[in-house]
Amino acid sequence: MCIVNGENIADGAGITPKLAERLLADGADVVTLGNHTYRRDGIGNYLASSTRVIRPANAGALTPGRGLAVVEARNGVKVAVLNVLGSLFLDTPVSPWEIVDELVDEARAQAPVVIVDFHAEATSEKIAMARWLDGRVTAVIGTHTHVQTNDARVQPGGTAAITDAGMTGPHDSVIGVEAELAIRRMRTRLPVRFSPAEGDVRLEGVVIDCSDDGRAHGIELLRVPA
Ligand SMILES: [Fe+2]
Repeated sequence: MCIVNGENIADGAGITPKLAERLLADGADVVTLGNHTYRRDGIGNYLASSTRVIRPANAGALTPGRGLAVVEARNGVKVAVLNVLGSLFLDTPVSPWEIVDELVDEARAQAPVVIVDFHAEATSEKIAMARWLDGRVTAVIGTHTHVQTNDARVQPGGTAAITDAGMTGPHDSVIGVEAELAIRRMRTRLPVRFSPAEGDVRLEGVVIDCSDDGRAHGIELLRVPA
C-alpha cells in the first residue's frame, strides 16, 4: 500500500480537495498532512468527511478531520495510518506525547500494521518518538524537513524508522521554493512571495517491508529522478 504526505501539493503550501482526490485516484491509499493542513479554502469540510485523507491527530479539538485512517493492503491485511505533529519549533496545539499512546492503542485495536507519519522539525524529537514507539508500531516515518536522511533502520523491537523520508518535488531549490526568493527573504527580512521551483524533480520516500503481524523487516530509501 502507498502513503503520501500531501501537505504541500497545492503549489508548495497546503492541499485542495481536488488535489487530494487526484492523489487517491493516482494510487495513494492514504494521504497524510501536517502543519500546512488548513492553508487552502474548502479543505476543512473535505477533511471532516474523508476517511483516507488525514490531518495530525494533535491538531486540536476545534479543527475538522481525523488523525487515523484504516485501510486494507492489496493482500487484505489491515493497515492503520497515524499522522502526528511534533512540538519542537512548531506551533502545535497538543503535545504529541500526550496523545500518542492512546492513539497507537486505538490503531492497534483495528489493524496489525500501524504506520506513523511523524511530522516534525527537530531530528531529536523524531528519533525520540521512533524509540518510544519501538515494538508497538510497524514504522515511524519522519516528514516536514524535506531532506531525506541517511538513517533508515529497523530498531530492536521491530519498528522501522527514518528521520525524514525526503521530498518529492524540485530539488534545485530551497526545500521546494525557488532558491533566489528564499534567500532574498532570509537576507533582507522583507516579505517575499514564495513560488515553487521547477528544476531537478525527484520522487523521494521509503519502502517498508513487513510481515502480516506488523513487524518490520526492512526499510529502503527511494530516490527516483524525473
Ligand atoms: Fe510541514
